[in-house]
Amino acid sequence: MNHMINTHKMNDILSKVTAAIDESKREIFDIAESARNEYNDLKKELIEIQKSIQTVISEVDKLEVLEKKSRKRLVDVSKNFIDYNEEDIREAYEKANEFQINLVLRRQQEKELIKKRTETEFRLKNAAQTLQKAENLTSKMGIVLEFLDGNIQDITSTLEDIQQKHVLAKRIIQAQEDERQRIARDIHDGPAQSLSNVVIKAEVCEKLIDIDTNRTKIEIDLLKKNLRDTIKDIRKIIYNLRPMSLDDLGFVPTIQQYIKNFQDETDIEVDFVILSKQWIEDKVKNLCIFRVIQEALNNVRKHSNASLVKLRIEMTKEYTTMSIIDNGLGFNIEEVESKDKIEGGFGLMNMEERVKLLNGNFEIKSTKNNGTRIFVHIPHDN
Ligand SMILES: Nc1ncnc2c1ncn2[C@@H]1O[C@H](COP(=O)(O)OP(=O)(O)OP(=O)(O)O)[C@@H](O)[C@H]1O
Ligand SMILES: [Mg+2]
Repeated sequence: MNHMINTHKMNDILSKVTAAIDESKREIFDIAESARNEYNDLKKELIEIQKSIQTVISEVDKLEVLEKKSRKRLVDVSKNFIDYNEEDIREAYEKANEFQINLVLRRQQEKELIKKRTETEFRLKNAAQTLQKAENLTSKMGIVLEFLDGNIQDITSTLEDIQQKHVLAKRIIQAQEDERQRIARDIHDGPAQSLSNVVIKAEVCEKLIDIDTNRTKIEIDLLKKNLRDTIKDIRKIIYNLRPMSLDDLGFVPTIQQYIKNFQDETDIEVDFVILSKQWIEDKVKNLCIFRVIQEALNNVRKHSNASLVKLRIEMTKEYTTMSIIDNGLGFNIEEVESKDKIEGGFGLMNMEERVKLLNGNFEIKSTKNNGTRIFVHIPHDN
């Protein structure tokens, strides 16, 4: 079945895809984690810078005042150099000079800190963006993963469904072919053969009629019997094709009628017990059960040499079960199953196939000289 979709392979691919996405999700998670760390570090750094700036600004403010004062003093001292000595002037000059240098240095420091602050703020903004993106991606990946996880199951069950339908369609077609082959065989072996005999007998009568009238009468009687039997055979084939009474009479009466005819024709007793009062109105299921009874009783008639058949049916809301047990010769199931279809007949296969098409369970047990037992279980939930 090369053309069929390989569920196993498909499942494998989907699992790998999910695993790859899962792996990427973890990587993105790592990225988000380091972005978060960087963001926090930068934030701390920014606070530190801000503090340093505050300190430098207040120092600059103080220095500005001091520098102003020292310059004023230098001007004073320079103007009134008569009141001050050389030492005083030099000291005032040096102080003013020192404050000025300090002020320049501090201002420089302030400038650098502000520049650093701008840079850090910029980096902080970037880190925040990365973090945001990574967090978004992680949650999106999560959604994708969840979606895929759910859908893998859906896809798998859809694929299995398609395959099952495919197999089912093939089996239905096969079952139809088998059924046709069986009808052809039944007509060929039964009515076709009998009618050929009838033609031969008619020719015999034609030749006898002027020679021996009595013989001819006897032959014509036989011929009439042959024709009646043939009509019966044909009726049986038609009935087997579709028991009309299932629709007209209903399920249980049809079975009862069928059993009555069976007993009359075979002298085999059928003990029929219904173990429930509730009946489902499912034509397909009812027909399936009726068919199994038909096939099983046909086999009992043809092969078993039984004197008694026990038929039990139980029907509930949830399921139908049935058992058909005969007390006949029994047979070797494995031996029969190993024969090919035409040689081995269609009956058993037909029963099993019909039950399985309804998702049911078919079981047959037989032991040589110890009868044959058939069990059927059909669920009602589909
Ligand atoms: N109740 C039974 N008792 C004894 N032997 C049985 C019984 N049911 C089936 N068998 C054996 O199993 C074989 C297969 O049965 P199956 O119904 O598949 O084919 P068949 O009756 O030979 O032909 P067909 O049903 O197509 O007319 C029979 O030929 C018979 O040997
Ligand atoms: Mg059969």
